Amino acid sequence: MCGIVGIVRRRLGVARDLIRSLKKLEYRGYDSAGIAVMSDGDIEVVKGVGTIEAVVGDAKIRDGYVGIGHTRWATHGGVSPENAHPHLSCNGEVAVVHNGTLDDFEGMRRELIAKGHVLHSETDTEVVAHLVEGNLKSGDKPLSAFVKAIKKLKGSYAIVSIISGERALFLARNKSPLVIGLGEDGNYCASDVAALLHLTNRFIFMDDGEIALLTPSEVEIWRLNGDSLEKVHKETEEVEWTPQLLDKGAFDHFMLKEIHEQPHILRKIAESIDYYTRFSERLNSLLRDGSLTIVAAGTSYHAGLIGKYLLSKLAGVRSEIIVASEFPEWSSHLRQGDIVLAISQSGETADVLEAVRIAKSKGSKVVSIVNVPGSTLTRISDESIFIQAGPEIGVAATKTFSAQVAVLYVVSSLISGRSGISRELTEVSELLRGSMDSLDEFSKKMSDLLKDKEHVFFLGRGINYPTALEGALKLKEISYIHAEGYPAGEYKHGPLALIEEGTPAIMLVPVNEELRKKTIYNIMEVRSRGAFTITIQPRGMEIPADASLETDAWDELISPLIYTVPLQLIAYHTAVILGRDPDKPRNLAKSVTVE
Ligand code: AGP
Repeated sequence: MCGIVGIVRRRLGVARDLIRSLKKLEYRGYDSAGIAVMSDGDIEVVKGVGTIEAVVGDAKIRDGYVGIGHTRWATHGGVSPENAHPHLSCNGEVAVVHNGTLDDFEGMRRELIAKGHVLHSETDTEVVAHLVEGNLKSGDKPLSAFVKAIKKLKGSYAIVSIISGERALFLARNKSPLVIGLGEDGNYCASDVAALLHLTNRFIFMDDGEIALLTPSEVEIWRLNGDSLEKVHKETEEVEWTPQLLDKGAFDHFMLKEIHEQPHILRKIAESIDYYTRFSERLNSLLRDGSLTIVAAGTSYHAGLIGKYLLSKLAGVRSEIIVASEFPEWSSHLRQGDIVLAISQSGETADVLEAVRIAKSKGSKVVSIVNVPGSTLTRISDESIFIQAGPEIGVAATKTFSAQVAVLYVVSSLISGRSGISRELTEVSELLRGSMDSLDEFSKKMSDLLKDKEHVFFLGRGINYPTALEGALKLKEISYIHAEGYPAGEYKHGPLALIEEGTPAIMLVPVNEELRKKTIYNIMEVRSRGAFTITIQPRGMEIPADASLETDAWDELISPLIYTVPLQLIAYHTAVILGRDPDKPRNLAKSVTVE
């Protein structure tokens, strides 16, 4: 995963901005961090294990005109000061940061060691610094030394390098994100736009196989074509996101802020029906030629399940859904003209991108639903739309889940020709806005009960079966309590054996009467075996439970947008009570850019 950043400018002062950018990238990995800065020719590095604040926050580093930074989520090599980036060449004249994983780097390591290079880390990245150094020593000019090194690499990489004496950034991208930011007094690059919003809102999005040279006044980009370099011209795009959106304001955590943003986002989607109409028409016309397969990972996969349900229920569209990491094995049937709908918050999830590449190689059309502007998924899709949720910093996806569900609701409704969508979403938005405090209060109480439990079960039916999966994912990823989501009716076919006296079962009660009756039987089944049942339910229903949250959900199809919020809050408060950082859960990163 990892986040990388580079700054080159006319005046001194890169160190402070590198650290600011890195803090915005911390969600991509946070086990170690580092920066390298160059002023008068010498490259100075500060790096180590720990958060950005702890490692470089008050680093007494000489400021410079050019610098790079890195925040790490370990893949090759354990978490240690030596493995933290930036990596230097033997003579300290080349520094490199990298996001991605290099294949066959062991062979290159052996070759370099045989040539007398001394490598200090276990990482794949370090070889790049030594390769560039070797080329420079053989007489290559800096750009060609960098390009020659890049040509040797296989695997995924977004790489930024600085070279002693050069007021320039050397960039290369293949299967890992890298964006270029254009400023008044210099140019920048980073893993995503959010990291550079305090410096610019004008971006050039690099594509795979591209190499770039950034100086304070110029940006040059080439495409690697076999052995030759072809110059490419790329459009500059303006991004609407502002740096204020990256501020957690009065909230204790980004996750809480993002949960509270949901009413606003739903309203925004409700007001953008025209924007989604063109996409829906295009999708509808594509559906005449082929079958529809949805692909996504994690929370986006749960939104995709709801999408599958809505497309079927509202628009009579048949689809299948494949979890992204399994797509290569389960997609043999795809043909020319079939449609793949990829859903991703980041637009950078490696499993999703790989699925899309496979789909394209078979001649399928790819449409996508994405949050991050300029992300790789938007660039490789035939058609994409944005969910307009703004930057999501908390590792646990919250507002983007609701936005994905809302957009899928809009798209399914538009395909079916239904009207009144905007009104319905506005009503959900108002309902949530008015009930945030009571949802929060209820969730806090429930968290206090759940904090000492070993297992928690989430059971739902129909459209709220994926909501149950999402509730369980949220709880386990940030509180580390084992949680499982299950279809309420399927539970008796095995997992019921796990219920003991006091085991919590969170039951999502349907609005639909028929489904509700069945769910009440399921509640009885777990209660009679000792479960502590918590219901999230429509108001005014007599339902046997140990604790209940009554909501004003009035329709089955919009109920996930309402039921999800208390589940997110329960996960959040449980993590906080247990002293865990909900924004940075252990072992996880926001954007999973490795397969
Ligand atoms: C959600 O809380 C997760 N952190 C994770 O499951 C996430 O949804 C998944 O990695 C997919 O990410 P994407 O939407 O950016 O593709």
